[in-house]
Amino acid sequence: MKKTTDVLVIGSGIAGLTLAIKTAQARPDLKVTVLTKVNEGESNTRYAQGGVAAVWDLEKDTYEKHIADTLDAGDGLCKEDIVRIVVEEGPDRVREIIEWGARFDREKNGKEYNLGMEGGHSEHRILHYKDLTGWELQRALMEKADEMENMEVLEHYFAIDLLTQHHLGHNIMRVTPDINCYGAYALDKRDGDIITILAKITVLATGGTGQIYRNTTNPVIATGDGIAMTYRAKGRIESMEFVQFHPTALYNPAGENPDFLVSEAVRGYGAILRDLDGKEFMHRYDERKSLAPRDIVARAIDNEMKKSGGDHLYLDCTHLDKEGFYNHFPTIYDKCMSLGIDPMKDYIPVVPACHYMCGGILVDEYGKSSINQLYACGECTYTGLHGANRLASNSLLEAMVFAHRIHESILEDVDKYDIKQEIPDWDATGTMDPKEMVLITQSLKELKEIMSSYVGIVRSNVRLKRALDRLWILFSETEDLYRTTSISPQLCELRNLITIGYLVTRSAQMRRESRGLHFTTDFKEKLDFIDRTIL
Ligand code: FAD
Ligand code: SIN
Repeated sequence: MKKTTDVLVIGSGIAGLTLAIKTAQARPDLKVTVLTKVNEGESNTRYAQGGVAAVWDLEKDTYEKHIADTLDAGDGLCKEDIVRIVVEEGPDRVREIIEWGARFDREKNGKEYNLGMEGGHSEHRILHYKDLTGWELQRALMEKADEMENMEVLEHYFAIDLLTQHHLGHNIMRVTPDINCYGAYALDKRDGDIITILAKITVLATGGTGQIYRNTTNPVIATGDGIAMTYRAKGRIESMEFVQFHPTALYNPAGENPDFLVSEAVRGYGAILRDLDGKEFMHRYDERKSLAPRDIVARAIDNEMKKSGGDHLYLDCTHLDKEGFYNHFPTIYDKCMSLGIDPMKDYIPVVPACHYMCGGILVDEYGKSSINQLYACGECTYTGLHGANRLASNSLLEAMVFAHRIHESILEDVDKYDIKQEIPDWDATGTMDPKEMVLITQSLKELKEIMSSYVGIVRSNVRLKRALDRLWILFSETEDLYRTTSISPQLCELRNLITIGYLVTRSAQMRRESRGLHFTTDFKEKLDFIDRTIL
């Protein structure tokens, strides 16, 4: 079955919805279709706690300071022109989402916004809604989306693969110039039908990749589908070795997927990291102590845990004012209490967990990928903003700034393209219903073990080689299954996660230095030139 649309947006988090709303609003004659593999509100966006970093109080803060903090966190790999674009255009985008109905906390006088602080920032500049900023942004965006008559959101549609000349029988290589994207195949999860969605322009806004690790703050939807689809379509992917581990996920011996996050804003509010003996340790690693950038804090915690042999450390909030803490962090407070931890009396046990993918689909300053008619936006991209390590609360900002730029570029380009009617429908000949789900669930467990054991915060040549050898076996077995079994979301996600595991591990092997989030015991120093890892 075929369906046609002018603009196909895959993903309904902050990146996808912002871009779709803007495009639909600017051109009521265009049809904009948004796909999401679960319900519209489930996304990484929904779980964002800390907030949105933006230069807001111009009496105290400046663009130059936010730019300098971003460059410093990025450890020499940020693209400075992109950093400037995001920092300077960011405040206007924040004002727009406020106009669309998003709320941020204000000071007690009800006037100025209450600006939070997080690691690596030299000023208070984090706009937030309690510790539920992402939930609030997602709510505002969904309400705005409902007003758009020329925009439809198809829930429970799983995008399987991008459509290119390959589907017209052409042989496409990674070096082939002028690959075009004509839309995507998508599985309707409710009835199992696979539809061919043809579009003039396709935008990937599929979010993060955290589910390649055993411990992650990312929800189960974060399986790197857009990055894997682009790689299969022979698009360029950059900087996948830079996986950000958040220093303070809540340690829960019962195990949870995802891990619950204890926001960095809690440290910005005055909480202190302590070892198992209750002693401070961060001063030995960085003069900014508990508020150093994330790569430094996560590595310090990893090191302290290895020294003590313990499986967590502590975050101390006991000296903080209870009313202020509860007003700012009600979700964190309630979650701790539900586990018998009173943050005002007990130290909170914390561990690092995979949190953010700094690499992704290589795009230019208008979000254009290396494939024609294909844009990408949000966490699935590599724009050059984050370099080797993302500064806290810069990603929601990046998504909003790029959504705006992409919508402007789409408005210029969309009328140049036609719908490619010749693309054939999905061919399921020769496939059977899966008999053994255990093959999928067990391979997923194996993947998470491989990535957590060998491609975590600290890496080495021998660990990376071991990971690649094992990933190759998983890849071969899963491709066999994919060729012979009818399509299921679980199988597609496994296939995508294995591809992401490969991209992370291979990029880590290619980077023969330690920089930002990539630390290897074989090359502990930084190279004195800039090396890019593009696959
Ligand atoms: P997402 O919000 O993840 O949306 C992805 C969308 O793609 C979803 O709708 C999903 O269903 C859809 N999708 C994926 N694959 C498919 C497919 N195959 N077919 C169809 N649909 C698909 N950043 C900050 O700046 N500040 C913060 O305070 C902050 N806190 C965070 C706290 C947590 C716990 C987490 C996990 C992240 C946090 N981040 C924060 C990071 C930030 O939330 C994300 O980077 C950002 O929300 C990503 O937005 P996105 O629109 O790119 O992707
Ligand atoms: C947090 O609240 O600690 C997360 C902020 C971020 O990931 O940007």
